[in-house]
Amino acid sequence: MRNAMSAARQLFSASHTTVDPKEVKKFQLLAHKWWDEQGEYSPLHSMNDIRVPFIRDTLLNLSSDHQLGSPLSGIKILDVGCGGGLLSEPLGRLGASVTGIDPLEDNIRTAEQHKSFDPDLDKRIQYKSCSLEEIAEESTETFDVIVASEVVEHVADLETFISCCYQVLKPEGSLFITTLSKTQLSYVLGIVVAEKIMGIVPDGTHDWEKFITPEELERLLESNGFLVKAVNGMLYNPFSGSWSWIESTSINYALHAMKSKAQEQSSSREPISEAEEEQHPARANTSTTV
Ligand SMILES: C[S@@+](CC[C@H](N)C(=O)[O-])C[C@H]1O[C@@H](n2cnc3c(N)ncnc32)[C@H](O)[C@@H]1O
Repeated sequence: MRNAMSAARQLFSASHTTVDPKEVKKFQLLAHKWWDEQGEYSPLHSMNDIRVPFIRDTLLNLSSDHQLGSPLSGIKILDVGCGGGLLSEPLGRLGASVTGIDPLEDNIRTAEQHKSFDPDLDKRIQYKSCSLEEIAEESTETFDVIVASEVVEHVADLETFISCCYQVLKPEGSLFITTLSKTQLSYVLGIVVAEKIMGIVPDGTHDWEKFITPEELERLLESNGFLVKAVNGMLYNPFSGSWSWIESTSINYALHAMKSKAQEQSSSREPISEAEEEQHPARANTSTTV
């Protein structure tokens, strides 16, 4: 009988890579700019004001046992597409043990250099330049939490990406995703206004075809063994440079899903019927943390 690792190797072989070289190349020129708070990545810096509490409070609500001042201690987080480590660092400061991965070596170099300024973080965070499928080839049920913030809109094969997340997460582990929805409004605000008119992010950063609605993402997650627990709309104000939670998920959104328990997997792997989908759209504002 094949063991889990060889099955994983077969599943995540090179023909199913999640890395789209064209997408990764977009981040090459700015690989040294991650920590410029006023620069191109300024919206990601300010997104920490809402995404870090969202992750922290969701995890705290799931466990009864936390250490004061270091609430995420003992939690192993995989930050997929970590870039320069903008999200890995605050999660490490909350006590988590973070592995940040990114296919672009120059991003990892920047992340390594920045965390070295803080000796405490140096111990808690490790970075690696690799793909998610490479992690899945070498580890099964290793992480308590996976974070993929502003990443899924850049991957080549989202289903393989989600299968890899499933494989490396421990049972009942949490997956946090932030991304852009695929609507006319996200095209106008996320691409025309943000990239072409206001230059909030560099022109060409996003390909609208790769955006995904929360309903579609939920369907994909649930057919791959996850249960979606919360979907919250997010709004960026370009004038104040700040993010806030909103009810609508038609532009940006944050999603929390959990890897189902063994007995739930078989039912949640069934495709969602149209009737079910009507009764059960993405669960906006179900999180107790925002
Ligand atoms: C918009 S940045 C987000 C960085 C970081 N997550 C943050 O929010 O600060 C997208 C990152 O995803 C990485 N990336 C692109 N394709 C990827 C893939 N297939 N798997 C993992 N990371 C990817 C890029 O290199 C880039 O660092």
